[in-house]
This record gives sequence, C-alpha cells and structure tokens, in this order.
Amino acid sequence: MPDLPLETPVLIGRKRDGEELSGDDLRRLVEGYMSGAVAEEQMSALLMAGVIRGFSDAEAVALTDALVASGDTVDLSRLRGPTVDKHSTGGVGDTTTLVVAPILAAAGLQLAKLSGRGLGHTGGTLDKLESIPGFRVALTPDEMRAQVERIGLAVAAATAELVPADKRLYALRDVTGTVPSRALIAASVMSKKIAGGASHVLLDVKTGDGAFMARREDASALAELCVRIGTARGRRTAALVTDMSQPLGDGIGNAIEVAVAVEVLRGERPGRLDELCRELAAAALVLTGTAAAVDAPAFVDELLGSGRALERFRRFVVAQGGDPAVADRPWEVLPRAPEIVEWRPGPGTVTAVRCRELGELAASLGAGRRRKEDDVDPAVGLEVLARVGDHVSPDVPVARVHARTRADAERALARLPTLVDIGEGQVAPVPLVLERVGLSGVPDLG
Ligand code: URA
Repeated sequence: MPDLPLETPVLIGRKRDGEELSGDDLRRLVEGYMSGAVAEEQMSALLMAGVIRGFSDAEAVALTDALVASGDTVDLSRLRGPTVDKHSTGGVGDTTTLVVAPILAAAGLQLAKLSGRGLGHTGGTLDKLESIPGFRVALTPDEMRAQVERIGLAVAAATAELVPADKRLYALRDVTGTVPSRALIAASVMSKKIAGGASHVLLDVKTGDGAFMARREDASALAELCVRIGTARGRRTAALVTDMSQPLGDGIGNAIEVAVAVEVLRGERPGRLDELCRELAAAALVLTGTAAAVDAPAFVDELLGSGRALERFRRFVVAQGGDPAVADRPWEVLPRAPEIVEWRPGPGTVTAVRCRELGELAASLGAGRRRKEDDVDPAVGLEVLARVGDHVSPDVPVARVHARTRADAERALARLPTLVDIGEGQVAPVPLVLERVGLSGVPDLG
C-alpha cells in the first residue's frame, strides 16, 4: 500500500469536513493502521473527526467488515445448529450468560461463546467462570466445537487473532476520548459477533448510569444499528434495550455473581436478573424459530422449573474442568471472602441507586481491575439486595460487603449510604425491558 501515507491526511480531512468515506477508504485505513502505514496520531485524528461529525450507517457496516477482515473468523457451519450468540454491552451485576446459555442449550440450541474479562466498573464472564475451582477458559477451536456438539455450550476466551484491529482500536479509543460513538461501538461489538460465527445474534443493549450508553435514545439507536449490521451480514439479529440504572443481579463480584446465577437456575433467587434471563432466553427461542412468541415464556419456565437448565449448567462446568458441586452448593464451593458485613439501614424506601459507583466500589474491593494486567480477587464484592421502590427496614440487610480485610469492609460500608438513597413514601419500580428491536420483522439497510 505505498500510496496510503500520502492519502491518509486527505481522508482524515474529508471526515473532518463531514464527508462520508467509502468502504474501500475505511478498509485501507484499518489495514494501514494494522500494518503501521497509518500512524497512531492519524488514526486518533480520524476517530475524533468521526465521533464529532458522525459516521453513516453504511460507514458502520464497512468498518465492521474491515475489523472482521483484520483477523481469524470462527467456522461454526459444521455444527448442527441453530447456533446463537448472546451479548451484553456490559453492566453491573450482569450475569445473564451463566443462566441464559444453559437454558438455550437445554432447548437444543448451540452456543460457542467467546467472552471477555472485566474492565473498569463492569464485570467479565471469564473472570466469573474462573472463580469456579478448576474451571478452564482456554479452549482450542476444535475443543470448543466438540464440546458444543456434545452439550450445546462452551464459553472460552477470544484469541488474540480474533478481530485484532478492534483490540488495538478499542485501546486507542479508550485513551483518546473516542469510545462514545454509536457507529464505533456497533462496529466493535458486531465485528466480534460476526467473526464468532453464530448464525443468530441476540444483543442486550444496556442503558442507564451503569452502562456505556447512559441515555435511552442513544441505546435505542445503538440497538437498531447493531441489528442492521448483523442483518446486512446475513445474521438473524435482534436486541433488547434494558435498564442498567441499578445493578441487575444481587451480586457484584466474580464468585458472588456465579453463586447468584446458580441460585437463579435453581429457582431460589427471584428478582431482576431472573426476570431478564427469562426474557432473553425467550427472545433467543423466538429469534431462532425454536418457539413462537406466545409459547416461548412457558418453554423457558419449563426448562428452569424442571431442572433441565441447571443440569446443562452442571455438564458445562464438568466439561471445562470445574467442580460440579457448584451447581448444588455454590456458596460452599466458591471462594468466600474472610470479612462479610451487612448494611441494615431504614426504615424507608429505596429512592435512587448510583449503579456505576456500586460497580466501582466492588472493583475497588478487588473484584475488578484498573489495568488489563491486574488480577482480580474472585471472592470479594457486594451483594445489593434492594432495588428502587423497595421498602426496607433494619430487620433485613440492604447490602452485604464481602472484603479481604476488615479495613476494606469498613471503607465499603461507609460508602454504601452515599450510593443507595433511602427516603420516604412510594417510588415506582424502574421497568426492566425498555424496547425490543428486530424480533418481529427485521429492519434492513435498504
Ligand atoms: N463493547 C465493545 O465491545 N466495544 C465498544 O466499543 C464498547 C463496548
């Protein structure tokens, strides 16, 4: 690509002036960035121009293609299928994969899921699974395919060769203030889903204080764009836009979230996580044509109530080297923090919750990492047991802190009253599923 260095400033200038770049322009820019012909400062300038001027939907699709083309793709075509991938844009107490994947596998679907680690205030599925003694997330593509063929699901770490351009661009966006762009987030998410090989993709696009897209209208637009990109590339794609203004599940932290997810699978932990997992599972059954919309919720109830989903979770844990007793006695099998203290305020009503800061507080106890190289402490974190609108009294805890040291526990306990407001009167609960996109008549790019 000898002429690219000369051409690059021209393309940056065109984006700066609000012009649309062609698919070919974007492909050569991404290729040039990966080969070193486009410098970091040039890519940074292009990204910032795009964030300010906006990228068109056609540019978002072209960018997705360019990211996918930068590395390997997973071939799931030899699986019996239907293959499905479920992806959340990230949140706090967001453990849906551990519940939804076994439900769908028990329904006969196949999930070969490539997951990530937590960063900042959000958790990562791999960190959570690794809190199960013995659990292994490094599977080869062949091991993964064989496991999915056998039991319907596998969850593994994405290799460095899967969409490498997204890894580099995401790190650059993180330090140049260019993460919050609808097209850049959609291309980043959808490139990984398309490279992951599933024929059906269900997205859980989060909105609210604990999400990347805090504003509802931005999350809706992101969901629609992702559905269009997936559809344009031959994947049956749908999205739910869901609330992340308060923690989804009662646990925030790695082992704690696994324990809570197992309790949901066992029917022992009703609440918002249980509710959303049922909604997502039903949506995936509809998307894949496994059940009609009217029948899907009852089918999900049956898979959970009969213990079939829990049994599939147990087989999944065994297949990846983990201790299957986690499915029976999660709190005994998983690592426990030495200091567990309760917060019992009230009486009153929960009027507001600062979701992102609760995630940050759990991360600061050791559940999350500040930098990619950091290790997580599997045992620590928070349980947050009340939601906006709930009446609370000192008879029952509103939260529990799971900490490595007494000092950490006391510091977290002192923060909680600033993150969960307890007031007077009635407050309406916050709706959980705000919108469904692409489940009846999939929009296309025209
Ligand atoms: N998640 C991703 O994978 N990419 C983004 O850009 C934002 C959230």
